Amino acid sequence: MMRFAGKLLVLLVVVLVCSSPLVRANQQLDDLFDEEFDDDDEELLRRVEQKHVDQELEREQQLAHAQSAYNMAAEYDPYNQQQEQEQEEQEEEQGAPNRAPRLTDPCRGVRCGAGRICSVNHDENKAECICIPECPIEHDPRRKVCTNLNETWDSACEVHRQRCLCNTNDPLCRGESVRHVHIDYYGYCRQMVECSESDLADFPRRMRDWLFNVMHDLASRNELPEPYLELEHEAETNMTKRWTNAAIWKWCDLDGHPHDNTVSRHELFPIRAPLMALEHCISPFLESCDPNGDHRISLQEWGKCLGLEEDDLTARCAEITKTDESERNDIEAAV
Ligand SMILES: *[C@@H]1O[C@H](CO)[C@@H](O)[C@H](O)[C@H]1NC(C)=O
Ligand SMILES: *[C@@H]1O[C@H](CO)[C@@H](O)[C@H](O)[C@H]1NC(C)=O
Repeated sequence: MMRFAGKLLVLLVVVLVCSSPLVRANQQLDDLFDEEFDDDDEELLRRVEQKHVDQELEREQQLAHAQSAYNMAAEYDPYNQQQEQEQEEQEEEQGAPNRAPRLTDPCRGVRCGAGRICSVNHDENKAECICIPECPIEHDPRRKVCTNLNETWDSACEVHRQRCLCNTNDPLCRGESVRHVHIDYYGYCRQMVECSESDLADFPRRMRDWLFNVMHDLASRNELPEPYLELEHEAETNMTKRWTNAAIWKWCDLDGHPHDNTVSRHELFPIRAPLMALEHCISPFLESCDPNGDHRISLQEWGKCLGLEEDDLTARCAEITKTDESERNDIEAAV
């Protein structure tokens, strides 16, 4: 999601400049997100964030290749390992001549959770997931994160690392208060601008537009996962399906952790975290998508809060989500 955040930023800034902001802190969704975490919540959030980290790292890797400057990032980049592995396999297939036999790297194919990297325990020649020793230094203010403690941290990596340290009772853990630290939104912590009633009333329309634009943009850059291409094509060619298909795409996309036909408050992270700092109505809007307050958003609720006709929304995630189930077959080594 962060990959198109840049584009999205431009879009939103344009939209925002045309609307009039008002000032008053919004608490509702913050309260919703600040509730006590149980272990399941923690696990879920970690998965959602991990997906982000993966996407972030993929982007970072591209940068690193161009600048060969992101050594640390590349070291804990699972995609990098995968590529290396593929390369090695290719070489093996070609029977690369004159090559000394190699020991298999126990970290091959091992993916650790956010804030962790795989490390080889040489005594036992075994893979272990350990807390990232050091996060890459971030200079870009957009990579700063505001935590649920309303503290600006250097990067998402720092948040994940600190949580790992605390959960493994490492002396580097900064204290009990950061055990459940999580990313609230990207960028520096700031005073949130109030969402006026008229802004909120107009928000579903802007959100629909935005969803379609993002989907369209992803498709035009060949970054939309294959199962969604038909939805996108339909949306493009049939005006009556434009908003509904975009809504279905985003909902199915959000309902990924796990695929349970409902979008939980944690699954909203990919939409909420990048938009919070830019879009003063995102919290009250998402709140309005959960009118019965059960912290879950059904496809019907999603359609309704986007101002769509309920009849148009049929859950098409079933066939869509089956295909990317394989994503999750990665080996996860326990700490
Ligand atoms: C969070 O921190 C920012 C920046 O220090 C501050 O302006 C804002 O009022 C704080 N928000 C809350 C809810 O305390
Ligand atoms: C566009 O979508 C509507 C609603 O599903 C459908 O009734 C209509 O036949 C479609 N039009 C075209 C040209 O496919």
